[in-house]
Amino acid sequence: MAVIPKKLTALDVVHDAPVIPVIVLHELRHAVPLARALVAGGIRMLEVTLRTPVALDCVRAMVQEVPEAVAGVGTVRTGAEAEAAQRAGAAFAVSPGFTLGLARTCAELGLPWLPGVATASEILAAQEAGLSALKFFPAMQAGGVGLLKAWQGPFPEVVFCPTGGVQPDNAPSLLALGNVACVGGSWLVPTQALEDRDWARITALAREACALRPKNTVKTG
Ligand code: 3PG
Repeated sequence: MAVIPKKLTALDVVHDAPVIPVIVLHELRHAVPLARALVAGGIRMLEVTLRTPVALDCVRAMVQEVPEAVAGVGTVRTGAEAEAAQRAGAAFAVSPGFTLGLARTCAELGLPWLPGVATASEILAAQEAGLSALKFFPAMQAGGVGLLKAWQGPFPEVVFCPTGGVQPDNAPSLLALGNVACVGGSWLVPTQALEDRDWARITALAREACALRPKNTVKTG
């Protein structure tokens, strides 16, 4: 695997592996073994969503205990959340949408940021903010492969991480597109596997996810 750059960019985040796991953790004790299990399967860019009270503690634990992983935060909706995430050690942030305020804050923090977009106008706004790696959310609900193909014409320099409704069966058709760097999905970290502390299952899911696209052939534009 390539060395993780010291000065990480959003492009580094989306080009590292075919899948970014969307992680919801309710228990701090799951954070470190989960990160180790995902890394063992070849996935090291980890999106820990800010949807539970322990999320930032989980990020802190991953950063301290699993240096091979790159812990980021998801569901970032305000600048204050981005700041708190960075203080906890998060190396990148992912948001469900795009706002100028978040763009400013993440730029000031030097925090690589993947904002969510679902329309051409939002892509234009993100481009105005200097961003060219974007989350497409909610991908399958908003138009999936067809919408991504339609964006290839006007936005050839933008790469996307479609997230929302992505599963192993529809991921290959997304990953085959020239403007898809990776996909995001929660299927890599099933709630039941966490409850069962079935780390081997999560490593197996990560390995399968890496095999969805054996070699990253995406052009960065
Ligand atoms: C989310 O925000 O929950 C992500 O989009 C994950 O969606 P998924 O559960 O459909 O993978």
